[in-house]
Amino acid sequence: MNVLIVGGGGREHAIAYAVSKSPKVDKLYCVPGNAGIAGLAECVDIKVMEFEEVARFAKKIKADLVIVGPDDPLAGGIVDVLEKAGLRVFGPAKNAAILEGSKAFSKDLMKKYNIPTAQYEVFDKAADALKYLDSAKLPIVLKADGLALGKGVLICNTLEEARTGVKEIMLDKKFGTAGNKLVIEEYMTGREVSVLTFCDGKTIKVMSSAQDHKRAGDGDTGLNTGGMGTFSPSPFYTKKIDDYCRKNIFKPTVEAMAAEGRPFKGVIFFGLMLTEDGPKVLEYNARFGDPEAQVVLPRMKNDIIDVMEACVDGTLGKIKLEFEDNAAVCVMLASKGYPEKYERGYLIDGLENFDGKDGYYVFHSGTKKKGKGIVTNGGRVLGVTAKGATLREARENAYKATEWISFDNKYFRHDIGKAIDEA
Ligand SMILES: Nc1ncnc2c1ncn2[C@@H]1O[C@H](COP(=O)(O)OP(=O)(O)OP(=O)(O)O)[C@@H](O)[C@H]1O
Ligand SMILES: [Mg+2]
Repeated sequence: MNVLIVGGGGREHAIAYAVSKSPKVDKLYCVPGNAGIAGLAECVDIKVMEFEEVARFAKKIKADLVIVGPDDPLAGGIVDVLEKAGLRVFGPAKNAAILEGSKAFSKDLMKKYNIPTAQYEVFDKAADALKYLDSAKLPIVLKADGLALGKGVLICNTLEEARTGVKEIMLDKKFGTAGNKLVIEEYMTGREVSVLTFCDGKTIKVMSSAQDHKRAGDGDTGLNTGGMGTFSPSPFYTKKIDDYCRKNIFKPTVEAMAAEGRPFKGVIFFGLMLTEDGPKVLEYNARFGDPEAQVVLPRMKNDIIDVMEACVDGTLGKIKLEFEDNAAVCVMLASKGYPEKYERGYLIDGLENFDGKDGYYVFHSGTKKKGKGIVTNGGRVLGVTAKGATLREARENAYKATEWISFDNKYFRHDIGKAIDEA
């Protein structure tokens, strides 16, 4: 079969890697892809938000399955456009992708269906939000309703900070229309864990847990980023917690979406906080995480095409998801200065060191072909992933592999997976 992947980051590279292992796939395409994906797929420069163009191209190559990676096109309704063109698509329709696209929607859904999450209020007028703050407990969390490139959440320690935040989001529209509504939420404490799942509209199957590292600097310092590294599975996500989440969070979420007439097909990424009162939902994402996909997919034993087709066909109940009994760690190699100011265009050396090495992967995030070489082309450049029998071994292997790559201004965190030492 012919498969088209929509997207062009490390997540899509990890998906492309998994898809390329399927014996069912004859030809793999990606729009727009990147320099790494180009080693596995024919990449064509079509932007992910040009839905009609993507649909035309998918028809032209006779795609039997289209897989959509990123949040923006999903929230914007790319799946509906592709399905209307007669294509089979892995990913939620617009009315289901709202689970990520609107935090107000997701909070109201959780409240209605008794899914554990932080207490909250939704506001559509800044004046009301500001008034509410006067009697709110600190710290307090502000969340722009819509997609804001992972920057729309503010944790405010003082009333002053919170008031400024409300004004920036709702009045100055720092995140555009994403700030038309605002969720103000109770501050929770605990360990964070991400759980990726597949859904077919009624059935949900759990992949594996992972933990992300959002801050730019060692010891969780510095600015928030798209993710500086991750490990899987999380040793803190025990069998007992998993049982609780399946019963009280995962199943109720899929059933709630179906009951609302918004059956969810695709990946639901549950961002959880393990609080003293039990696991609570921090957020939903309607797609694979990046870089969570880079540590979860290499450990999956199933043919990803079988699983994705079952999600599309509503037959996921028949699939037994299987993961290797090992661990993986991904260290992001970034450009110095990310997420603020950084240079692009530096030649990358050493990519060939990963060729044919079992259990070692280099997933491209921000790279570009230039002449005969590949150069840096973004803040996050490469995700170096390694597997190991244990998390510690995977971590050692991943850090060893970071040394195989060199480019000017290479920057990475040195403490990815350090948390496992506390487990
Ligand atoms: N109620 C809360 N209490 C404490 N911390 C929180 C709370 N809500 C969010 N956070 C922190 O802020 C981070 C980002 O929040 P959230 O996941 O809702 O935002 P997002 O922008 O959708 O993130 P992503 O880019 O991962 O999708 C969380 O990972 C968590 O560390
Ligand atoms: Mg999110």
